[in-house]
Amino acid sequence: MTSSDLHGFYKKERSERIEALCEAAGLAKEDAELLEKNCIMDFEPADSMIENVVATQQLPLGIATNFKINGIDRLVPMAVEEPSVVAAASNAAGIVRKSGGFEAKAEDPIMIGQIMLVKIDDAEKAKNAVLGKKEELIEAANSADPILVKFGGGAKDIEVRTLEIESGKVLLVHLLVDVRDAMGANAVNTMTETIAPILEEATGGKARLRIITNLAINRKVKAKAVFSKQAIEESFKGKDIGMNAGEIVDAILEVYELAAVDQFRATTHNKGIMNGIDAVAVATGQDWRAIEAGAHSFAAFGHNYAPLTKYSKNENGDIVGEIELPIAVGLVGGAVKTSPLAGVCIRLLGIKKAQELSEVMAAVGLAQNFAAMREIGTRGIQAGHMALHAKNIAVIAGAEGKVAEEIAKKMIEEKKIRVDRAKELLEAMK
Ligand code: MEV
Repeated sequence: MTSSDLHGFYKKERSERIEALCEAAGLAKEDAELLEKNCIMDFEPADSMIENVVATQQLPLGIATNFKINGIDRLVPMAVEEPSVVAAASNAAGIVRKSGGFEAKAEDPIMIGQIMLVKIDDAEKAKNAVLGKKEELIEAANSADPILVKFGGGAKDIEVRTLEIESGKVLLVHLLVDVRDAMGANAVNTMTETIAPILEEATGGKARLRIITNLAINRKVKAKAVFSKQAIEESFKGKDIGMNAGEIVDAILEVYELAAVDQFRATTHNKGIMNGIDAVAVATGQDWRAIEAGAHSFAAFGHNYAPLTKYSKNENGDIVGEIELPIAVGLVGGAVKTSPLAGVCIRLLGIKKAQELSEVMAAVGLAQNFAAMREIGTRGIQAGHMALHAKNIAVIAGAEGKVAEEIAKKMIEEKKIRVDRAKELLEAMK
């Protein structure tokens, strides 16, 4: 990657954008062609992915610019239907870039498989029986996925708890599996099903559930960034928001402080984070529902539901932002391989390991969250949304291309962003 700081990318024509991407990310000619063809998935692969297929649904794919993560420039593909998400992420990444970029670190890709054993007579005895067979269980689990073991992954440990459910005492066994570059659900589910009979024999119980947990508590990723006071102020250049740099910083921090104490706000705060993370997940063919479930569960893990980010002011008066959440993503299997566009997106990012992808996603989540707070704490979220929102309304009214842009501009000037007004303006222009 040469640089993710693609000046004026948003002003370019589509073919120029693709050309700029290929040049910056060194994409092959075939990838450029796939993008140019709009990358529509054929019926055949779609039909083999899910059942009862009739068509493919599509989303716009945008590229967030300006990201520098762990010293590496990344052009970030985002598939999302919501206006402003891509622009906001790029804007925040531009602010962070001025302080050197994001630092991000993913933990090892350890997933957990759960096996619940019911009809246990003596829970303590059963627990000891399982722990006594740890080596045998790990070996049996690994026999189910020799390829994963060959690549350095595989079952690594077993943890056991006793729990009380409504029907009585149960034994809950956690199988910890290093899934390397896979998301891991298939590998883990197969392994839990493989060792369940051994567990039943060892405990005299009945295995009632054998499945991965999406609370990937051992697969967390952290990202950190400095949003300098000066860069934040500069990002409003040309827009009169009536606040100085110090006031803007304090206002943004106040918005965060509410999320830290109020679950209603924390939910929306985290939704904004997931706007970014999910958009990258969808673009790169990930199981975004698993990521969502894990993120919100982690937000309430061991405490009340809380924001996934933290902010503070450093000695220079700049904002320091941090994010931490579990992100289970894979580069092998699933839609990553079957969707041609997901492959292009991964090559565009230039990532080689699943951990790197999760680091990018954490950085994007932090950028997205900061961008939202920057708007909310100052001129309000609608100001930034307006241009695209108004254009959407003009398109709904039947306008196209430059005409839609002109109608949008007029509606913003008039402060009347409505379909009926767009229709009137369109009629007048005819
Ligand atoms: C909208 O999709 C997301 C925001 O509501 C997030 C937030 O309020 O922090 C703008």
